[in-house]
Amino acid sequence: MAIEYARPGRVRPAPENFLSDTDIESVQNGRRDFIRKAFVTASAAMVVPAVAKAQSAGDPAILNLPEWTTSLGMPVATHPYGMPSQYERGLVRRESPGLTRVGGSSVSFTPLQGLFGIITPSGLHFERHHQGWHDIDPARHRLMINGLVKTEAVYTMDDIMRLPSVSRIHFIECGANTGMEWGNVAVPTVQYTHGMIACSEFTGVPLKLILDMCGADYKKGRFVLAEGADGSSMTRTIPMELIESGEVLVAYGQNGEMLRPENGYPLRLVVPGVQGVSWVKWLRRIEVGDMPYGTKDEAIHYIDLMPDGLHRQYTSTQEVKSVITTPSGGQILLDKGFHNISGIAWSGRGKIERVDVSVDGGINWMPARLETPVLSKAITRFNVDWTWDGKPAILQSRAVDETGHVQPSYGQLRAVRGTSSIYHNNAIQSWRLAESGEVSNVQVL
Ligand code: MTE
Repeated sequence: MAIEYARPGRVRPAPENFLSDTDIESVQNGRRDFIRKAFVTASAAMVVPAVAKAQSAGDPAILNLPEWTTSLGMPVATHPYGMPSQYERGLVRRESPGLTRVGGSSVSFTPLQGLFGIITPSGLHFERHHQGWHDIDPARHRLMINGLVKTEAVYTMDDIMRLPSVSRIHFIECGANTGMEWGNVAVPTVQYTHGMIACSEFTGVPLKLILDMCGADYKKGRFVLAEGADGSSMTRTIPMELIESGEVLVAYGQNGEMLRPENGYPLRLVVPGVQGVSWVKWLRRIEVGDMPYGTKDEAIHYIDLMPDGLHRQYTSTQEVKSVITTPSGGQILLDKGFHNISGIAWSGRGKIERVDVSVDGGINWMPARLETPVLSKAITRFNVDWTWDGKPAILQSRAVDETGHVQPSYGQLRAVRGTSSIYHNNAIQSWRLAESGEVSNVQVL
């Protein structure tokens, strides 16, 4: 049995889990009871939900000792690198059936519907490669610094890893996340509507420190060009103010271990709050220059086509956004009564200030609980207690960040941006809950 969603108990997973009817039945029977017990022990600060009556005392699953209680378990180090339970094997990155793979250029999406808290497990971090990925030998990898600097330099990984390091939790969101929804409803689940986002603890060296060591000319050199070592020659301009703030990292660590090859091993740029394309993977060169470079990755890609036919370039900041991950598209609520509504919010401008949730398509809003930690330019988890009366509902979340930016409705966003864009869609997501309990993707203007 593979369970993709993991919680809450009375939610049936999305169709792409490929669960059999027997799997689903056992989810219904097993998880429901598990959740009931969890509610009973819920903290006093939370609403104590009215739950279904207790399972019959004759439940064979508690009366009969299972084989794991009556036999020897597996020895330590059966898996020298730990793996998820076999029962969680449905929770994986997936390619969207609607997107074609061209050579090495493709994307796999994070299964947001099954994740807790704010950290994305490294093995579920979405991937976006323009020309495929390589597992680069760190002993042969180099970082070169050139351009408007006193001393050009070439660093080995050992050179970089002996420098003072910092660790910071940040989200990375591809500018094309939710891109398929610009025109109309396009995809069924939150994995595909919003799954080009991940949040990790990154460890590395502030780029400012390395530029200082090379004697960068900060007066003339107001931009840098970051270049990747892959065949796509991914190159992006980063304004020097971002580097001077100390936030931009030359990172080698992700969630306590080295970066995964798909995510840039052994070195990637971390540019907090800025769209994913600027987080150059397999980072091999930084050039300091006096103007934006206008490379192919910023002249023909990652630009916003506006209603008047002009393109907007260098719209890098990922604006305030949120989405309910449970219940979400493709899931089925198995009965009415108490449900925890859970989701994530983020802003490239700083911390999340508040999130409001509506269950009637935006007529009324209730404040969500922001779970700690609430960090700048990181995912924030929110939760709302809700008792479903069994009637049709439209679930939405709307985030506000500490700079006062409010997540727009589709109507508000399209009034400014039109419908022809691919990038930077931060509109409010709506999930329609039918009387049958089925949840589907809809757009509310
Ligand atoms: N860097 C290189 N060298 N090559 C790439 O194809 N893709 C970019 C960026 N950095 C890319 C790259 C894009 S478009 C995104 S959204 C992020 O990496 C994705 O990072 P991830 O694959 O670690 O999720």
